[in-house]
Amino acid sequence: MKARVISVNNQKGGVGKTTTALAMAAILTEQNKQVLLIDCDGSSTTLTKILCQQAEVDYRQLAVTLTDLILFKTLGRDATAFADRAVIHCPESYDLLPADNKLVSIAAALATQNDMEIRFKALAGLVDYYRRYYDYIILDAAPVLDLFATNQLVAADELLIVSQCQKASREAIHELVHTVDSFVHPINPNLQVKGILLTMLDKRAKYGKEQIREMREEFADIHIFDAVISRATEAERYVDSGHSIICQSPKGSVTQGYREFMKEFLMERQVK
Ligand SMILES: Nc1ncnc2c1ncn2[C@@H]1O[C@H](COP(=O)(O)OP(=O)(O)OP(=O)(O)O)[C@@H](O)[C@H]1O
Ligand SMILES: [Mg+2]
Repeated sequence: MKARVISVNNQKGGVGKTTTALAMAAILTEQNKQVLLIDCDGSSTTLTKILCQQAEVDYRQLAVTLTDLILFKTLGRDATAFADRAVIHCPESYDLLPADNKLVSIAAALATQNDMEIRFKALAGLVDYYRRYYDYIILDAAPVLDLFATNQLVAADELLIVSQCQKASREAIHELVHTVDSFVHPINPNLQVKGILLTMLDKRAKYGKEQIREMREEFADIHIFDAVISRATEAERYVDSGHSIICQSPKGSVTQGYREFMKEFLMERQVK
């Protein structure tokens, strides 16, 4: 059991989860860590598309994806036999377990399972197989809080909540924390809620400062990272480049924000 497994999560869409997962992987790789990104989002498969582009692999012709591995599990078959074949090795040196759009129906497939080990722990079993090869495994969640999202939280050691400050994002955090407390902790008591990373915010502007203060009041019992990711057009464009924002815009404010965040994140600190 080597890897630290991090779920980057929030069922609110478009808050910066994938951007964050990729930035974390890039920064950890610079520190010579072995990183596996797992694309848990069949609705956009952004990570899969970006990393397939880097690895010069056609994402429409992947032989084995995360969907196949989870379906093997639901059929009671040994998914680990195919687990190594599924991983894509990228030149920037973090690896990817890719998704395809069939992954969106995996929650329904899991819901038919009466075996609780499969229903809630299908992904955890798979993640445990990969732990020995990596220092960090990062799970990039889809914007949905379903049974597969619960699987991600059951598979993880740490939860990083990525959020903007708007009302919808705040409501989503309350639901996520409720899910952790009510459903995940009874199965995975080791899951640590590491905290909330605020994104797409100008922390120097008066309004940005107000929003941060309101977030700290509303989520008094959850750690909110001091580092904040600013909104910048460079981060809107990185996706098309096929690289993380860290590589695409090394001197930009967003990269600087992610570097500050990672310093904080990597300082061991028990939260909650
Ligand atoms: N700091 C930022 N400033 C400006 N735009 C950003 C920033 N971070 C991410 N974006 C852009 O916002 C959009 C959503 O980001 P991203 O895909 O990372 O969010 P997500 O939470 O993963 O979304 P989804 O829930 O759909 O998976 C993308 O177009 C991305 O390029
Ligand atoms: Mg995403």
